[in-house]
Amino acid sequence: MSSFNLKGKKAFIAGIGDDQGYGWAIAKALAQQGAEILIGTWTPLLKIFTTSWSMGKFDESRKLSNGKMMEYLKVYALDAAFDKPEDVPQEIKENKRYQEASGYTISEVVAAVEKDYGQIDILVHALANGPEVKKPLLETSRAGYLAAVSSSSYSFVSLLAHFGPIMKQGGSALSLTYIASEKAIPGYGGGMSSAKAALESDTRTLAWEAGRKWGTRVNTVSAGPLRSRAARAIGFIDNMIEYSKANAPLLKDLEAEEIGNSAAFLLSPLATAITGVTLYVDNGLHAMGMGVDSPALKPI
Ligand SMILES: NC(=O)c1ccc[n+]([C@@H]2O[C@H](COP(=O)([O-])OP(=O)(O)OC[C@H]3O[C@@H](n4cnc5c(N)ncnc54)[C@H](O)[C@@H]3O)[C@@H](O)[C@H]2O)c1
Repeated sequence: MSSFNLKGKKAFIAGIGDDQGYGWAIAKALAQQGAEILIGTWTPLLKIFTTSWSMGKFDESRKLSNGKMMEYLKVYALDAAFDKPEDVPQEIKENKRYQEASGYTISEVVAAVEKDYGQIDILVHALANGPEVKKPLLETSRAGYLAAVSSSSYSFVSLLAHFGPIMKQGGSALSLTYIASEKAIPGYGGGMSSAKAALESDTRTLAWEAGRKWGTRVNTVSAGPLRSRAARAIGFIDNMIEYSKANAPLLKDLEAEEIGNSAAFLLSPLATAITGVTLYVDNGLHAMGMGVDSPALKPI
């Protein structure tokens, strides 16, 4: 395989709040290949993220294989549930953690990135939120369902619509999805399964539209389970990791770094003919039609 390098490319990664999630792993894989990193951090987490970074809390995870440390050019406060300032409800504006920040809606962040750096090459959407994720779909309110789709799916449409005009020709965008979009995963509720189904369908439609409009590629990675902050909030992530290890074709842990590397490939010049794809990076679990550790399979 030819090697690739991303020197001189600028990547905006939306959805890094700490060093535990897929956004971080993707940023690291891109930085490893020489890309310059811009980060969009959820507004309420901005201060704790930048403080933790400057206090050295992430130093161990920032280490790249060439001995250097991952750096970023800039971190922007971002709330991807809002497109423009007038969309932000009063109670959010008055929230202490939002008062400390400004310019965090999608259109404002993109305008700031354009002012600071002109154009970008890579856009990564590594964010999701479903306020009722612990509720079964049958018990999910309309507001909870729409909030899940707004934060987890429309946010990608809006980020791409706003960043598209300042993406260089041949640029590439990527989101992260989950198998609950296409198979029932009890416990992944609140409309989050619906949101992931929308995200995957939009990947295909956006690949067509953004490809023709800006020459931008659009793909999504369907990742296996990782013990991120968001996943811990859902509550059953340890069971999902255990289930995956017991039933996936590859008998090994799934490392965030593996998702990072696959994402970096999709975002790189090695993948210039790949767009509109959902790529499974899950040790092969998606291919299974049976839980091989089911007690029903054991002889009595
Ligand atoms: N962890 C898993 O097992 C798993 C599996 C498959 C897919 N994914 C997907 O990977 C992506 C990253 O999630 P993760 O699990 O790495 O967790 P994470 O906690 O590292 O990332 C989620 C991020 O989204 C941010 N966020 C939430 N609402 C936001 C908003 N309105 N505006 C801006 N940022 C917002 C959070 O602050 C957080 O930093 C998500 O799309 C998730 O659904 C995760």
